[in-house]
Amino acid sequence: MSLQSIKYNRGSLEILDQLLLPVQSKYVAVRGVEDGWKVINKMQVRGAPAIAIVGCLSLAVEIYPEEFESKKSLRQEIEGKLNYLVSARPTAVNMKIAADELLSLANDLTKAEDVSVPDMKQRFLNATEAMLQKDIADNRAIGANGAQAILKLVAKSLGAAGASGNGSVRVLTHCNTGSLATAGYGTALGVIRNLHELGKLEHVYCTETRPYNQGARLTAYELVHEKFPATLVLDSMVAALLRAKNVAAVVVGADRVAANGDTANKIGTYQIAVVAKHHGVPFYVAAPLTSIDLQIPSGDHIIIEERPDREMTHVGEHRIAAPGINCWNPAFDVTPASLITGIITERGVFEPQELKEAITKLLEL
Ligand code: MRU
Repeated sequence: MSLQSIKYNRGSLEILDQLLLPVQSKYVAVRGVEDGWKVINKMQVRGAPAIAIVGCLSLAVEIYPEEFESKKSLRQEIEGKLNYLVSARPTAVNMKIAADELLSLANDLTKAEDVSVPDMKQRFLNATEAMLQKDIADNRAIGANGAQAILKLVAKSLGAAGASGNGSVRVLTHCNTGSLATAGYGTALGVIRNLHELGKLEHVYCTETRPYNQGARLTAYELVHEKFPATLVLDSMVAALLRAKNVAAVVVGADRVAANGDTANKIGTYQIAVVAKHHGVPFYVAAPLTSIDLQIPSGDHIIIEERPDREMTHVGEHRIAAPGINCWNPAFDVTPASLITGIITERGVFEPQELKEAITKLLEL
């Protein structure tokens, strides 16, 4: 069984505290929107899809016991609280897209004359709860689409870089994109999971992902838990790894993909893409449609979250940086579309330059 980062039953929400992993496995109750905002902002729960799901479910648990005088007052509460949740972390777009969809539902229900106040609340709760199952289904499709794309590339050059005799592959991933970052299965880690299910995963390398160490703490924990053949490397070892280990593909997640395919993801992703290009290793981004922001033309429009110096200067309580030194701690970087081989979604794998048109068409259907 894969790890469960989010436990939800109507009226009750708990998240696995990712700040304590891998040393301690402890669930924390999220009793409403205030708690939801805090666990997202403090990164007790993190990963673009998980942030959106926990944010929306924190609103569901808050309104579940409440009674509303009118649909207008319910709608107002929904709008105010969703706006607040969007402010918890700025880079991942998933919470904003979910908020827009839920608000549009609330607007439609407010206008519909045959919908009562309790009906409206019920339908709103159903819509937020549906996000859990949809995310898992999307991730499974991403996993299958990505594994097929990588295997197809490798089949073309069987015996060449990254392919062993039976066509199984070595891949590299960055940050954490697995069950802990989603409702389950994972995005980039879903691709790796699918390769493993097909018996085609020879080895997975994961980076440490300084400074928050999502790779060393969380991805490594998931890989050991799943018993995948896996090795941890430091962020500074990627060039040496790609030169030495016949890696077939890099596959990473995304926090926001712009219309032209530029992709914001965990800091360090950009330099891996540069190094992959240099070594001729295909570089894939795995992202659900809920991470794709067609409203912005390019990555220049993505706000990059900057986090406290302490995440760089300390490991736990222990200071490792010279006192007095200045720090710059952007949590994400933007990989230009020109370095990306393909964007793996639940609806197919797209080259960055075809992404906007393809997704627009899919959304119209
Ligand atoms: O700061 P984090 O841990 O929330 O950053 C997470 C990442 O960058 C992930 O790679 C991304 O959200 C994809 S999660 C499926």
